[in-house]
Parts: sequence; structure tokens; C-alpha cells
Amino acid sequence: MHRASFLSDHCPPMGIYETLYAFRDTFGQFMGSPGTHPWSQGFPLTTPLPGGPALPSSVDVTPDDRLYPKAWGHPDLREAIARHYNEFHGSRIAPENVMVFAGGRPGIYTVLAFLKKHVEARIGNVEWPAYLDILTQTQTSWRVVPFTKQNGFHPPNSAYFDRTGLNAKTHLMPVISNPSNPTGHTRSGAELAELIAMAEQPGNGILLDEAYEMFHASQGVSGIRYVKNLDDSNVFLAGACTKGLQSPGIRIGWIVASRKNIETMSNYSSFGMGGVSHPSQKYAVKLLEPQRVAQARAAVAAHYGRQRERYGEAFAKMGLGVHTGDGGFYHWLELPDGVDADTLNRRLFRHGAAILKGFDCDMARPHDKDPGYRSPYASWFRFSFGPLPPESFAADVALLQKVLDECRADARTAGRG
Ligand SMILES: Cc1ncc(COP(=O)(O)O)c(C=O)c1O
Repeated sequence: MHRASFLSDHCPPMGIYETLYAFRDTFGQFMGSPGTHPWSQGFPLTTPLPGGPALPSSVDVTPDDRLYPKAWGHPDLREAIARHYNEFHGSRIAPENVMVFAGGRPGIYTVLAFLKKHVEARIGNVEWPAYLDILTQTQTSWRVVPFTKQNGFHPPNSAYFDRTGLNAKTHLMPVISNPSNPTGHTRSGAELAELIAMAEQPGNGILLDEAYEMFHASQGVSGIRYVKNLDDSNVFLAGACTKGLQSPGIRIGWIVASRKNIETMSNYSSFGMGGVSHPSQKYAVKLLEPQRVAQARAAVAAHYGRQRERYGEAFAKMGLGVHTGDGGFYHWLELPDGVDADTLNRRLFRHGAAILKGFDCDMARPHDKDPGYRSPYASWFRFSFGPLPPESFAADVALLQKVLDECRADARTAGRG
């Protein structure tokens, strides 16, 4: 007999992890171990990219680094992050506009955990699975913005600020990954300027998640370029060393926001977080060295741009519907001939491969499992080329083609039956 747990019974792992556990149960090894094909995974290569800079291999740890860190982040790192934005994007943010977190997720979680009740989040119907868990666990109220083939998985900015049926009391806070995980669609230039202008209107704000900022032909898309008055706004930009700086393991991310909002979050850090590891923050300062980042921006855009293009061409040839935008390191794909992504995945598991099902990216699905729910994205999936070295291309394409052919044959047999 087990006692009832004191902790929530409604805390499943994020969808990606469920795929990982199901994979391990079938294949007998963890995804990512040698011989597996990590197409479901959102990590970048952690070795130097062609033409890219070396990655620092050590940091000094002094007695000062063993002291408690500052709640808002190491002064050197806040300074380096502010400079990182100002020099590349021409913004004028101060270190006081930056708060450091142990990765991208804790920053995003904190913003949503402290939202006032009258602020409603708006989120695309197709987004990064973790958002659904974060919105649910922080008890944020949200509405979904339609993402369809018809609107090209890229609705207009105005769709996020639609006030139909609302009274003046409700304020709006879109939560958008840009470039998008999982679709790769990216708001840049005039469209991003318009999005930020809307977010700076009274009663509006935005949580713009720029984890994939460097994965775009422009070598960097950030809303900061267009912010007119950060300190008088509810604009929150999330960034991290996780993707473009190729260092998910150091767990450094940040939020850029008004001084007032940063102060609230650092007050939370003083009692709920205690700051972030000094060695990791010092490593991040090294990663952000301006010459290094300039080289990294060019290498990331070139390597991942090439990968996006050639995988996209190969997938289209296979008969998959390719609906990917021009950023990030994922392809957003539709399966042909009535094949569903769950069937594809179960077959892939046997070969040591996995994808992320469109179902997991569906922000309108019930958070707790509901066998009656039918997702509009059952035949959609995300393919990640983030962790793939250039050499694995031919083998990846051949394996997906083979398993897809098996699934199509099965679907045809089932159809005849
Ligand atoms: C959309 C998005 N935001 C943020 C992150 C950063 O996550 P973290 O730094 O916590 O690993 C990720 C990583 O998968 C992501 O896909």
C-alpha cells in the first residue's frame, strides 16, 4: 500500500521526454547514445562547426566564485549580454535590463509564474511542447491562435492581439518562439518591427523566446532591434547559450525586460533560486566574447542553413509535405497517404530513431492524457537536424525513406482490408 503523494498528480514529463522514455523501452538504449538517430532532439552540435570558433574548455574558479552569486546574475555576464545585444542589434539596453537564469526554461517559467491574473497569454496552436506544461503548471490563462496549412503556420501578428470578446481589464501577452520551434517560421524585418510595436501598445506585452536567434540567414533576429522604450514596456525577450552558442550543458539563459520587471524576478531569485552557478556564468562570458560570437553567428547560419535546405529537398522528394519556415533547426512535415506520426515513430524506434510527433506540439490538446482527443496534427511531425553532423545526411535520409515506405505499405494494406 502506497500513501497518497503530497505532490501534484498532474506533472507528467514534457512530451519530448515521453518520446524518449518510449524509445528506451523499445530500443533498450537512451536516445543520443552511439548508434541512435536523435531526430527528436532539440540540442545543437557541441563541437566546433565548419568555420566556427573553438569552444572554451575551462574556467578559473577563485574563492570569490565560491561565494553566493548575485540574485540577478554575475555583473560581468549581465554586462556581456547587454553588449551582445547592443553591438549586434543596435539596441541600448543596460545590464539592469538583464537577469540570468539556469537556462532558457527557468527564465520563461519565472515570467509566467509571476504574471498578474488579468494578463492572458496567447500562443500559436503549434509551439514548443514545454510551453504547454509551463502554462499549465503556472496556472496562466491562455488562448490558442490558429496555426493551419491555410495560414501557412504563420498567422499575422494581429492574430495574437485579437481582443474579440474581451473587456478592457484583460491584457495580452503573446508567447512566441522566434524562430519557431517546431516550424522554423520566423518573424523578421518589418514583420518583427510590427509585432514589437503592437507589444508596446498599452495593455499589451510579449514573451518573445529567441533561443534560436542565430539560426537565420540574417545571422540574428531579435525583437530588441525594434523596441522603443523597454523600461516602459512589458516586453520580455528570452535568450540562452543553449543553441547558437552550442552549450546546453552549462545551463545559462537570460531574460531581457524593463528594470522594474527584472527587479521583481531578482527578488524572486533572492528567496526561490539563490542565483546561478558562477563557473557556468564565467563560461558564458567566454562564449560571449564579441569576436567569437561574430564567427559563431556566421558559422551557425551557414551550417544550419545548408542542412535545412538539403534535408528539405530530400523530404519533399520522399513525398512529405514540407511546411518549414526559414529559421531554426527543425523541419515541420506532413505525412502522406494517411500515415500517422505515432505509427511512424514506433517503427523508427526499432531502428534506433525517433521524431517528435505533431501531437506533442499541439497547444490546444488537454494537458492530462485524454484518449478521446483528436489532434489536428496527428499526421504531422518535427524532424530535428540540430544534433546531426554533416556526414550523417545520406544515412538519415535513407532510413527515413525506408521506414516511410513500410508505413505507406501498411496504410495501403489497412485501406484494402
Ligand atoms: C523554444 C525554446 N525555447 C527555449 C529553449 C531553451 O531551453 P533550455 O536553455 O532550458 O535548455 C529551447 C530548448 O529546447 C527551446 O526549444
